[in-house]
Amino acid sequence: MKLYHGTDAEGAEAINNDGVIKAGHSYYGGVSGVALTPRFDVAVDFALAHGGDGVVFEVEVDEDVLVADPESGNIDSVEDVIAAGGSVYACVNTVTPRKQHEV
Ligand SMILES: NC(=O)c1ccc[n+]([C@@H]2O[C@H](COP(=O)([O-])OP(=O)(O)OC[C@H]3O[C@@H](n4cnc5c(N)ncnc54)[C@H](O)[C@@H]3O)[C@@H](O)[C@H]2O)c1
Repeated sequence: MKLYHGTDAEGAEAINNDGVIKAGHSYYGGVSGVALTPRFDVAVDFALAHGGDGVVFEVEVDEDVLVADPESGNIDSVEDVIAAGGSVYACVNTVTPRKQHEV
């Protein structure tokens, strides 16, 4: 499934050097993952959140590795969260970007 990850210019440079988006901080239940959204506009907001330019990476991930972001409300099915435009985490160490959009 196609999802997006937004990051600032510094993060984007590091991701391009590494070739992968790395799992971030521990979150819910101590699991770590890559924060993703089905909404391009939401990824743009994350990319620009620290001021300055940013980058939105487009990724393709298997739905099996996704969990709902607990901050997305009281919906626990990943399918429902995505349909509602909520955020998810890919529970993997790295995700390889397919495309990037400078924003
Ligand atoms: N970033 C998004 O597009 C996005 C999408 C949905 C939800 N969220 C929410 O925003 C909050 C913060 O998310 P976050 O994405 O900033 O995660 P995070 O707070 O765990 O921070 C990890 C940071 O490291 C960066 N990074 C990834 N790979 C890297 C690499 N190879 N080298 C250097 N830096 C790298 C990420 O872009 C991110 O800025 C979370 O609570 C999450 O729920 C973010």
